[in-house]
Amino acid sequence: MANENETYPLGRDSKESARLNVQNAFLIELIGTSPIHASIPENEIKCVADVATGTGVWLRDIATHLQKTNAKTKLEPMCHSPSSCSTRNTSEDTDTDTDENEEEYYYHGFDISPTQFIKYNTSNTVSPINLSVHNILDPFPEEHKGRYDLVHVRLLVMGLKVEDYEAAIRNIWGLLKPGGYMQWEDIDATSYSTAPAETEPPCVTEMRRLITRAVNALGMSPVAPAVIEREAVEAGLEGVRRDVCSTVSRKEKLRDKAREWLVRAARCALPVSMAKAGLIGEDEGKEVTEGLLRELEMGWGDAVPVVNLQVVVGRRPLLE
Ligand SMILES: C[S@@+](CC[C@H](N)C(=O)[O-])C[C@H]1O[C@@H](n2cnc3c(N)ncnc32)[C@H](O)[C@@H]1O
Repeated sequence: MANENETYPLGRDSKESARLNVQNAFLIELIGTSPIHASIPENEIKCVADVATGTGVWLRDIATHLQKTNAKTKLEPMCHSPSSCSTRNTSEDTDTDTDENEEEYYYHGFDISPTQFIKYNTSNTVSPINLSVHNILDPFPEEHKGRYDLVHVRLLVMGLKVEDYEAAIRNIWGLLKPGGYMQWEDIDATSYSTAPAETEPPCVTEMRRLITRAVNALGMSPVAPAVIEREAVEAGLEGVRRDVCSTVSRKEKLRDKAREWLVRAARCALPVSMAKAGLIGEDEGKEVTEGLLRELEMGWGDAVPVVNLQVVVGRRPLLE
């Protein structure tokens, strides 16, 4: 279990890191062919921050993806000092480049805890992944302000209380260059559901009831993506949209992965969140969860978990 004073109740052991890494591939597949939302022009993205990065696995994938698809790979190592991303995207800054073809990439992951950080070996054509400890609720250090073309957040729903989202978005805004994009992917309690709804196994309905009760008792939001969207609009991000990426339209392809996701998510989130909310002891929570999962193993029928991953995209205005 995490630090008692922290909102985030989930563990950070090697099993949980492995879960995050398996989940990463599934969630990228769920949102489409690229880790970046289709509305964001990939060729404009060079400096990327990932907040609440966990193991940093999403950054590893985005680094490989961007530098492959932008296909300006160079044989010599790229510049990757923190200063390689200008803090402001002004014409003065861009004019100082000596080689106009030079592509400079910078990747930085932040997390409230370093426990799950992994040091990735990137190839010599991919800039390194930088990782540091930072709470999203605190303003970021000056060196990071206005630096990023894209700030990504994924699955912070269990780390924030309802009233925290406003500060989180304000601090993300601070990281963005004018014209930079926020992409925040999160889930709500409907991820604990199956389709078709009429044949949902009763144990899944019970899981949804338990997680909703725990999340409410902890002061978190059971409708986090809608809150993120609202706060992004209120903060003044432009073109804010919220897309729902569900397994339902691609159930033949994603059924098995979605089932595995639901089982792992229930096992890691249900006992600790119920315990931290004071609804039940953690050992009892584990027994209840395992009982529900045994029922599920015997009674999947045709059910496919819905896994409603929602992607909120918004852009810091170019001119303020
Ligand atoms: C479910 S994990 C998701 C990790 C990663 N985004 C991913 O999708 O693989 C949630 C992460 O949020 C981090 N976290 C929780 N509260 C935070 C906060 N206030 N600021 C920054 N990170 C936080 C946790 O330490 C954990 O690594």
